[in-house]
Amino acid sequence: MICKTEEDRQGMRNAGRLAAEMLHAVAQMVRPGISTADLNEQTRELMLKAGATSASYGYGSAKNPYPGYACFSINDVIVHGIPSKDQILQEGDIISIDLALFYEGFCGDNTVTVCVGEVSSAARHLIEITEEALRAGIQQAVTGQYVGDISAAIAAVAQREGYGIVREFVGHGVGREMHEDPQVPNYVLPQKGARLCPGMTLAIEPMFTLGDAAIQWDSDGWTVRTKDHSLAAHVEHSILVTENLPEVLTLR
Ligand code: MF3
Ligand code: CO
Repeated sequence: MICKTEEDRQGMRNAGRLAAEMLHAVAQMVRPGISTADLNEQTRELMLKAGATSASYGYGSAKNPYPGYACFSINDVIVHGIPSKDQILQEGDIISIDLALFYEGFCGDNTVTVCVGEVSSAARHLIEITEEALRAGIQQAVTGQYVGDISAAIAAVAQREGYGIVREFVGHGVGREMHEDPQVPNYVLPQKGARLCPGMTLAIEPMFTLGDAAIQWDSDGWTVRTKDHSLAAHVEHSILVTENLPEVLTLR
């Protein structure tokens, strides 16, 4: 567990702000007819221009590195959707964009789920509730509380709505690496986990499903879907635990 110095906190603020601005810019391009390859190309160019590098591009094993500059996950895809010119967004789709970058040695990691034109009220509600859970989790990210308090707050929101909670992917510490200790699950564990201290930086990222939360992998080795093909939503902020209220590093 790493509690950042004041200097490192400033580095995390800069990386977080850039990641948020970039995610916002790419999310603004979402409309019927655009492909995830177009969104990916825009992400690549924005990172190049800003002097940032993608934390996702090349991630994973040398045998099957992740090929996108961000992850683009449509409808039943929960995480790690791979951009493609054949994936053209259609009215009524929902798409999560998970954008993580390195800037001056620090990682900013954030995700939004956006609607393509008009979507069903069920889809809109799923996204709103996943956002509510993220806010509830962030509220618990206070010195003296435990990682388990963040998890419990997130899980309670999903349970109230009867949504599935994806268990295979969790939030995480974030800093000079994209994934640092501790893990931040979106479900409750018997133990409360690590105690939060000023200077901890966490990526909190609930993933909820309209149906069952069981997952399956596509043959590309990355794309993760709901087994029952129900819709999934995913939202994420990088946050800083302080002496007072939590600071959202990837605020848009
Ligand atoms: N940014 C993701 C996270 O929230 C991880 C992306 S890994 C990738 O932790 F390889 F798929 F890009
Ligand atoms: Co993350």
